[in-house]
Amino acid sequence: MNKTISVSQIKEAAQEAYEQFKDNTGGKNADYIPYLANIDKNLFGISICLLDGKIITLGDSSYRFGIESVSKVHTAILALRQYGAEKVLKMIGADATGLPFNSIMAILLENDHPSTPLVNAGAITACSMVQPVGNSDKKWEAIVSNITDLCGSAPQLIDELYKSETATNFNNRSIAWLLKNYNRIYDDPDMSLDLYTRQCSLGITAEQLSIAAATVANNGVNPVTKKPVFDASLSPKITSLVATVGFYERTGDWLYTSGIPAKTGVGGGVMGIMPGHFGISAFAPPLDSSGNSVKAQLAIKYIMNKLGISIF
Ligand code: DON
Repeated sequence: MNKTISVSQIKEAAQEAYEQFKDNTGGKNADYIPYLANIDKNLFGISICLLDGKIITLGDSSYRFGIESVSKVHTAILALRQYGAEKVLKMIGADATGLPFNSIMAILLENDHPSTPLVNAGAITACSMVQPVGNSDKKWEAIVSNITDLCGSAPQLIDELYKSETATNFNNRSIAWLLKNYNRIYDDPDMSLDLYTRQCSLGITAEQLSIAAATVANNGVNPVTKKPVFDASLSPKITSLVATVGFYERTGDWLYTSGIPAKTGVGGGVMGIMPGHFGISAFAPPLDSSGNSVKAQLAIKYIMNKLGISIF
């Protein structure tokens, strides 16, 4: 895990991955959210942020896409900052579900427990926990400011995506109210769901996500702004959450083949945390059947295998 790798090795691996996969036509855009269905399917970007703040970018790394489920990591971090590791474990949990991201069955099987902040149920619970409880505007400010700290620059709401998600989030509405039924929501359910939907609709770039991932890999200090964002003791907690459920029901296959804890979103983004080395993000809209970007997975796996490093 402590193998030394040079900047030029990382650049070369990233360049090769970009060239090799840029014309790949596998997968298709998420179609259950109308906005995402219409995004240019040829967009492809890779960004790697090293722990000294150097950034290596390729392709569409500054295109703003919907952060979607990758935002679950950011708000889990906010809950950890505001409540501490022990309370987050008690109030949400840290278990893999082994089921799709929006599973209702997972809530029933886990005996009233949302399991982890990185699936929809736990992420809606995390939004309900954000302080100050009861104040939607201030909660939203806290969510955005936390993402800004992690990325070193602000995300921007994609209004059309927010409208598109809000008009179609029937399954998530059921989740929010089922959580209420089990006393697993700690603020108004509709407000918590709205915050979750809004955070998923934030526009972010691969470059920003690589900086956020590098902040986790760098024990809570943003390597670009040098700002301490969270306590170093939280880094292994965050990485373990991402490792256990970052690819939902495909997480085991992902870790086995890539060696890097990473989180996906249906906007086509993937954010990977390589402690002690770097944060990486790749973005390409077409997804596999579990909602994970085909090209982003191929690129990150290629880079990890080429560099010969792994979290294990
Ligand atoms: O909850 C939803 O349906 C979306 N807004 C986010 C889902 C998502 O990104 C799942 N990840 N792959």
